[in-house]
Amino acid sequence: MANQTIRLVQVTDCHLQNDPTQLYRHHDVESQLDQMLAHLSTELPAETLLLLTGDNVHHGGVDAYKRLVEKIDVVPFDAVWIPGNHDDLAIMRACGGALNRKVILLKGWCLILLDSTSEPDGKGSGSLGSKELEFLQQALQQNVDKHCLIVLHHNPLSVESGWQDSIMLADAEQFWQTLAPFDHIRGLICGHVHQEWHWQWNGVDVMSCPSSSVQFKKRCDDMTLEDDPELQAPAYRLLELLEYGDISSQVKRVNLVDN
Ligand SMILES: [Fe+2]
Repeated sequence: MANQTIRLVQVTDCHLQNDPTQLYRHHDVESQLDQMLAHLSTELPAETLLLLTGDNVHHGGVDAYKRLVEKIDVVPFDAVWIPGNHDDLAIMRACGGALNRKVILLKGWCLILLDSTSEPDGKGSGSLGSKELEFLQQALQQNVDKHCLIVLHHNPLSVESGWQDSIMLADAEQFWQTLAPFDHIRGLICGHVHQEWHWQWNGVDVMSCPSSSVQFKKRCDDMTLEDDPELQAPAYRLLELLEYGDISSQVKRVNLVDN
């Protein structure tokens, strides 16, 4: 019998600079992403789907997007991306081609990829907005015979940090209301918080992933970089979507090599 397990890897908040030699909060995020993708290419089977969950580049520069697409082109995986608050949607879409897909159907599962960058407050928050919520509702309705995984950049639940909760998904209440009538949603993953969380919402796994770039320390009133040496490392999230709707997931960290 064919293996029905779907393998995903989430890489998030790469924050690539337009100039690859420029550091982001003292980190060489270009080298960190290169090392992570090289590691994933040797560790994971080729049928893995790579999900880039926003803040793919830091200030929306076209050079950064072009380099990112080149990096993705050489990994052995199919890949998709969504935008974060630091992305430039127009440039990203123009560079993205098949990376821009919003619904992926795989072996009885439906992945729904959302854009949460509407109505930005300029400080990092974002919303789905009525159009994206309508798209979500329709995608859920059209795939009631599948198990659904929802992918978005902004966290729809609190991370118990004053500065981060002020820039979480601004229309989280409408988002949860949109999901409430459906019982085929199995999981939800997000980026944005640069730290690991695993919540439950009505029996659904809701998970965030640390970044490939710089991690933020949990439960701080103001922005604080992670100071725990283990938690500072770039990280990614592995997910296995199983035949009967269960999800197995873990966050893994990459040991960096100095260039
Ligand atoms: Fe970010």
